Amino acid sequence: MSGQILVIGAANTDLTAYVDRIPEGGETIHGSNFTTGFGGKGANQAVAAKRAGADVALIAGLGADIFGENTKAHLEAEGIDTSGIFYGKQPSGVAHIWVDAKGENRIIIIPGANLELTEEFISNAVLQSPNLSIVVAQCELPQEFAIAAFKSAKTKKVITILNPAPAVTLFDELIALSDWIIPNQIEFDSLTNRRTDQNIEEQIKNFYPEKNLLVTLGSNGAILRTSHGEIIKVTAPNTEVIDTTGAGDGFVGAFAAALNAGKELKTALEYAIRFASNSVSKKGAQSSYPTDLKIN
Ligand code: ATP
Ligand code: RIB
Repeated sequence: MSGQILVIGAANTDLTAYVDRIPEGGETIHGSNFTTGFGGKGANQAVAAKRAGADVALIAGLGADIFGENTKAHLEAEGIDTSGIFYGKQPSGVAHIWVDAKGENRIIIIPGANLELTEEFISNAVLQSPNLSIVVAQCELPQEFAIAAFKSAKTKKVITILNPAPAVTLFDELIALSDWIIPNQIEFDSLTNRRTDQNIEEQIKNFYPEKNLLVTLGSNGAILRTSHGEIIKVTAPNTEVIDTTGAGDGFVGAFAAALNAGKELKTALEYAIRFASNSVSKKGAQSSYPTDLKIN
């Protein structure tokens, strides 16, 4: 393999408040810290894959504003191919994030110019990409964007990876076009209507068995099931948790980079967990991804 990974998804600016506890309705409290960082599930996964050592391009929408300018300059400095960045009329996407003392977050996303991407723009970018090996998309933007990307990817026999985040009801067409589906546990439970008293491994065995599935389980690591029914479980290292924002995106980007580098599935899974778990002890999304943990 080892061509280019193309990520389609939002690039946001994350405005993060760190608080001991989340305020009640109508309550005002003091936070301990505020940061402005680079985020958005698409941009996070692209930066993670790049820092993991892959050749990466990103399709995202930015506004003609200071957040957009800073984001483009940052992605270029990371070495990401930004020829698929689209400038819209709306402001750049932002995410308002609250992180509590346990490192857990609550997020409100305003995607802004990311929503002005079009299926035609995305299809053309995929079709014109000369050395593509993997296409990655999430559900932060309309599913039609991921469908357009994956349809074009399939004409080139390229691997498609869907991270169905945040949780949505997936279109059958999108599932059919996805080679890999990588939800976290909350998203998997919502996709399968799993009750907490039901065994997750049983559900993992039965969920679209013709697909490759990888469910991330936070501090418990992740479980992978191939389209041949092989199951691989890897636990996560015990890590100090400061901020888990973007951990799932770090996992997806690192896993895509490992697949792209031709690694065995177990090695790819172990690597993605190491990469993502390393990020939870630092603040922010992209700011937390390791720069010294390459796949090769
Ligand atoms: P987030 O929404 O916080 O970005 P996520 O819910 O999409 O993350 P998780 O399943 O929570 O995804 O985590 C993805 C990976 O990050 C895990 O497989 C693990 O490697 C790492 N991770 C997350 N939380 C922890 C933790 N508390 N300790 C160690 N590793 C963690
Ligand atoms: O997955 C984390 C990301 O979700 C944040 O960076 C935020 O921008 C939202 O898109």
